[in-house]
Amino acid sequence: MMKSWVLVADADVPFLISLRDDSKTALVPVATAESGRQYQTLLADQTRSYYGVFLSITQKDASVVGLVKFTHLRRPGVPIFLIKQAHDVVPFTESELRTMGIHKVLDKPINYLEMLSLIVPLRVLFDPDEVMQVRNHDALNEEVKVEDAAFFSVQASTYLAGNKSFFDLYLRLSPNLYVKVIKAGDTANVNQYLDLDVQEFFIRYEVRGYYVAFCERMAAALLASAQVSSAIKVGQVFRHGAEVYALLRQNSANEQSLQMVYGFVSNVHALVIHNTVTVRDLLSYANQEHAIMVTILTTMLAQKLGMKADKSLEAVGIAAALHDIGLYKMPAIIQQEDESKMTPDQVDLYHSHPDLGSQIAESLRGLPSAVSQAIAQHHVRHGKHGFPAFSPSGGANRIAEMIGITDDFVRIVGTVEQEGLEERMKAFLMATTTGFSDEVVTAFKGMLVPE
Ligand SMILES: [Fe+2]
Ligand SMILES: [Fe+2]
Repeated sequence: MMKSWVLVADADVPFLISLRDDSKTALVPVATAESGRQYQTLLADQTRSYYGVFLSITQKDASVVGLVKFTHLRRPGVPIFLIKQAHDVVPFTESELRTMGIHKVLDKPINYLEMLSLIVPLRVLFDPDEVMQVRNHDALNEEVKVEDAAFFSVQASTYLAGNKSFFDLYLRLSPNLYVKVIKAGDTANVNQYLDLDVQEFFIRYEVRGYYVAFCERMAAALLASAQVSSAIKVGQVFRHGAEVYALLRQNSANEQSLQMVYGFVSNVHALVIHNTVTVRDLLSYANQEHAIMVTILTTMLAQKLGMKADKSLEAVGIAAALHDIGLYKMPAIIQQEDESKMTPDQVDLYHSHPDLGSQIAESLRGLPSAVSQAIAQHHVRHGKHGFPAFSPSGGANRIAEMIGITDDFVRIVGTVEQEGLEERMKAFLMATTTGFSDEVVTAFKGMLVPE
């Protein structure tokens, strides 16, 4: 596969040198231009592909606006960032930046890794050697007293470490008491602990970002393998998703966590597009993180509806993955999305989540507007059911409808124990799904009961 680059144009030569000297260029190479002319030559070079470009607001021989236009023309879809000194004033208004299609304006000092984390998939940035270096100072087999919040747990039976563990692994002896049993980089005999009936390993919270990258990479590798069964692939996508959502719920969405979501969506696409997965394969996960299931099902539905173009399919996946982003900071009762259990005030708050979510999406520039629109409308239904009450020329946009129908379905199957699932599915099939257009309903039903 062709290696992708990062392109930086800046008259600040020491800055360019610092980027070229950065060790991360071993993972993603950087091309630097001291002048606008040089930038244009590099950008036009069709033997290279670019993850993104960074343009300083001060250019030697060209106007930034001109370079931005040139970039859109030659490399449509490649994200563009502006860089400036912290004390410099941005020479454009917010709306000008929007029209110019600028993702974000960044202040110096900024290092290469910070720049990469905005545009490069986590799995590309995951450097096993580096991760194994971040072992901490806790000694092996010695008890450490720390708050439980300093750790997160991973299932022991599915901790795929190969021969070596990438992370320091702990066991939890009692509340707030841990012991490190495997050091990062050391050969890990996970089976030995499984024989002892260990259910979970614990990992220090500090390396959680690395762990998500690790899950993304493991999932991507398994998804690409012809030997692995689809049941394992589904499980891996859910495990990766669970990590992504744990962080997303905690930190909310920003440019960095958006990369994480893109990584998750790309694994979902690999699962749905290159493997035969049926709704039934997913049902045992119905009680897990709601958005994972919605993302997978919406992607399956998109495929069923014949959507193929990379960009539009990506927009569907991202919108589905983020559809409830407006809920995550709300009280638990509201996050369950069950109005029958809410007070009138809580219902009001609940009804504001599509709008809030779309505002969050809008603040992350670079997301297609179809995404924030779909988030805003994912509870809109035909015939004035749903909310918000407005009904844009009769119904929600197509992506919102696709998310809406899977959302309803997942909520129904997710609330019952396994035994009741078949019944619930049948009921969903029988119910006249009047809130959606016929085409979407037919495609969804076809997905539940393949011909
Ligand atoms: Fe929702
Ligand atoms: Fe939802």
